[in-house]
Amino acid sequence: MTQHNNLCDIGFIGLGVMGKNLVLNLADNGFSIAAFDLDIAKVEDAIAQDKTESGSSTARVIGCSSYTELLSCLKPPHLIVLSVPAGAPVDQVCENLIGAGIQPDDIVIDTGNSLWVDTVAREKKYKNNFILFSSAVSGGEVGARFGPALMPSGSPYAWTRIKPIWQAIAAKVDAETGKPIERTKPGDVVTEGEPCAAYIGPAGAGHYVKMVHNGIEYADMQIICEAYQMLRDGLGLDSSAIADIFEKWNNGPLDSYLMEISVEVLRHKVGDDNTPLVDLILDKAGQKGTGLWTAMSSLELGTPAPTIAQAVYARSISSFKDLRVHASSVLSGPEAQSFSEQEKTDFTDQLQDAIYCAKICAYAQGFQLMKLAEKEHNWQLDFASIAKIWRAGCIIRAVFLQSITQAFERNPELDNLLLDDFFAEQLCKHQLNWRKAVSNSALMGIPTGAISSALSYYDSMRCAVLPANLLQGQRDFFGAHTFERVDKPVGKKFHVNWSSNKRDLNEIG
Ligand code: 6PG
Repeated sequence: MTQHNNLCDIGFIGLGVMGKNLVLNLADNGFSIAAFDLDIAKVEDAIAQDKTESGSSTARVIGCSSYTELLSCLKPPHLIVLSVPAGAPVDQVCENLIGAGIQPDDIVIDTGNSLWVDTVAREKKYKNNFILFSSAVSGGEVGARFGPALMPSGSPYAWTRIKPIWQAIAAKVDAETGKPIERTKPGDVVTEGEPCAAYIGPAGAGHYVKMVHNGIEYADMQIICEAYQMLRDGLGLDSSAIADIFEKWNNGPLDSYLMEISVEVLRHKVGDDNTPLVDLILDKAGQKGTGLWTAMSSLELGTPAPTIAQAVYARSISSFKDLRVHASSVLSGPEAQSFSEQEKTDFTDQLQDAIYCAKICAYAQGFQLMKLAEKEHNWQLDFASIAKIWRAGCIIRAVFLQSITQAFERNPELDNLLLDDFFAEQLCKHQLNWRKAVSNSALMGIPTGAISSALSYYDSMRCAVLPANLLQGQRDFFGAHTFERVDKPVGKKFHVNWSSNKRDLNEIG
């Protein structure tokens, strides 16, 4: 075993893309790290990069070749950060740490995208061995390196130890404008501003919030992709022209990281003939599960998140490439149309409003889902604080998150974002164009599942009387499932004896 003279502040396990960048971020912020990965080459790579970037002869990161060595290199009580794939690998590492002699007052922070119920179970399972804390990380590679959004949850004691470290490495926003404070170079640190790291709640709460973040991320991405298809297949624009439009949109209320990277992807050209890369990328979307979990949770809790679910389905449909190619030669749709310049401008303006409104609905669905989960699991989520964390560092960071923060600051008990004065007014102002864009997509035969499901969601939400009265009648007819009545007290159940000739109506119980 290598002898190390100085004990490190933090042990780090898992030096994949996210892990390595978090390590470098921690090192820039003055923390010393003992690092371990089953693949020793990854440890060596992180150490080499840190040396080059810091230009220092003193190592800020040291490598360890076993779990035992890792523990021996740390200041007690030990603080160990895991950046390993969700699921079985997390348990495997926990068991290995137990085997290596981890102590009950040591803290292990799971930064992966673990399923939140697994986190709840793990905290209980390992409570006699160590304190399992979780802190989902958002922001991808660059976020991890220069400031991610962090969603910590678990033992409040553990949080008091982790907080200064997390607040140091997190993305920061200017408190007044809500705008991210730039940090782009190795060695940069940002000490001013509001850190995108706030305690979310007990075990599982942080991973739940990150899961919903990803569900919203799926919806946001899909909404942008639908606009891309409308412009590509509806107006026949090439990727550069679409990038120009997106770039313009990115200067208004749609200003967001996802819009910004879409422009970059659309502009990227490859090969001697400068082919737009996007035209060469196969249209089959991958997914690791967090969007699916969000949709499943919304179904389990009985709260509508159709735009998020649609985004998951859109990825599923995309994966049936062969079937779609076959169906495209069998199933007919509308003929392609041509448009005047004025019609193209109108179409584009309508689409911009449609994206904005659909995006508001996707966030409204995500926040309402978290509100229901909060009640169900007895958490105390601070929605303004969650919106604040998402203003920088994370994948869904956007100017728009400042308006969401303000909505929950105005009314922390807000049932649904659509009911906030600002958002209600925005939807009122932009809805006609949204409706036109959805109509255009239907008439052109271009799928816009996320954008149009958001419109249905909006229309359902503003519908005082839905057709569920007929549905209750149908259920009562075939299954004697009973119904309540508008003219009787809530909770009183009624049933019609549909099989008798008299079809008598009775109060039940
Ligand atoms: C983030 C991302 C990150 C990752 C997800 C989504 O917040 O940094 O959400 O967690 O990109 O795993 O991945 P899929 O699109 O593959 O499901």
